[in-house]
Amino acid sequence: MKLFDVYKTFDITPVKANGVFVYDESGREYLDFYGGHAVISIGHSHPVYVNSITEQLKRIGFYSNAVINPLQSELAIELAKVSDCINYELFLCNSGAEANENALKLASFHTNRKKIIAFKNGFHGRTSAAVAATDNPKIIAPLNDQHAVEHLDFGDIDKLRTALNKGDCCAVIIECIQGIGGLNEADTNFLSELENLCRKNGTVLIADEVQSGYGRTGQFFSFQKHGIKPDIITMAKGMGNGFPIGGLLIHNSIEAKMGMLGTTFGGNHLACAAAIAVLKVMEQEQLMSHVQELSDYFREQLIRFDGIKAIKGRGLMLGLAFDHPIESLRKQLLDKHFIFTGNAKDPHVLRILPPLTIKKEHIDRFIHALAQEL
Ligand SMILES: Cc1ncc(COP(=O)(O)O)c(C=O)c1O
Repeated sequence: MKLFDVYKTFDITPVKANGVFVYDESGREYLDFYGGHAVISIGHSHPVYVNSITEQLKRIGFYSNAVINPLQSELAIELAKVSDCINYELFLCNSGAEANENALKLASFHTNRKKIIAFKNGFHGRTSAAVAATDNPKIIAPLNDQHAVEHLDFGDIDKLRTALNKGDCCAVIIECIQGIGGLNEADTNFLSELENLCRKNGTVLIADEVQSGYGRTGQFFSFQKHGIKPDIITMAKGMGNGFPIGGLLIHNSIEAKMGMLGTTFGGNHLACAAAIAVLKVMEQEQLMSHVQELSDYFREQLIRFDGIKAIKGRGLMLGLAFDHPIESLRKQLLDKHFIFTGNAKDPHVLRILPPLTIKKEHIDRFIHALAQEL
């Protein structure tokens, strides 16, 4: 049987990974400045993580949500501690799209409305409402097109005010830093006005932190820099360091009702063991302050390149904007220097999403490769 051919792939077959490195079948080492698309948070095959999942598997790997799973409560307690988000409740699922789909559904249940406000250049996943909220007609099937979604310019407060004041929106969904869209960041004025307008009009504010969350920006969630308090926060990628898990933090003003949300696999024992290990390592290794320190160092090294027109993003969620398309540079970094990087919807932006555990020597190696190619 052939695979359903939907991905453009590099001709590389990783068989092993450790820390910030990935190894192919011939033993060649690759420096991972892409983190498997922002997923690897605490580093590949971290021993605490491997041990936690292995030991859990020996005990119990899975049972359904029809029984009590104390690991879910342990994860919720740890999350509140590390994220500093209090007065929220946790719902666990399996991916970023599923987290956003559930968040939008919950907003609709809560408000009894169905219109969604989303932003141009945003990406929220490929399930029905999540993809309808995504600004990319190429990935929206006619079936998904039936959702009531208005896409506004990112940062356009006047259009936002007009749209929300109609009083018919269940949710606004926003990436405070747009990942795939090219690392544009909303400013504090816009975000606090967005929060005020949502409160005034009874609209649920959903922060999509699937990519920007879990310490990637140097704070646990990227919105925390702006002092806002979303009603729902969605997360996934860094949460399981590669183990599929996603989740929603739901403000306790939104009441849970039996059957509102549900999942077979979400919050299973193995996924919780992975996610608890991630938080433990984040705390033990103080990864958020490490990210801030490394990000400052990275920026200092990058400003000397005239070819880089802007360094976008925050922490270790960076976009290097050039005045030319980056695809051949990205290929050279991979083929000649064995460094994985990412691209964006904006073809001029090279995306940097390494494991949060990278060290200065890895940045130096990347800078050396970049200097040769520019
Ligand atoms: C901001 C954002 N939201 C949602 C998603 C969808 O996540 P998943 O691919 O786990 O469904 C992504 C994936 O790249 C993302 O970057």
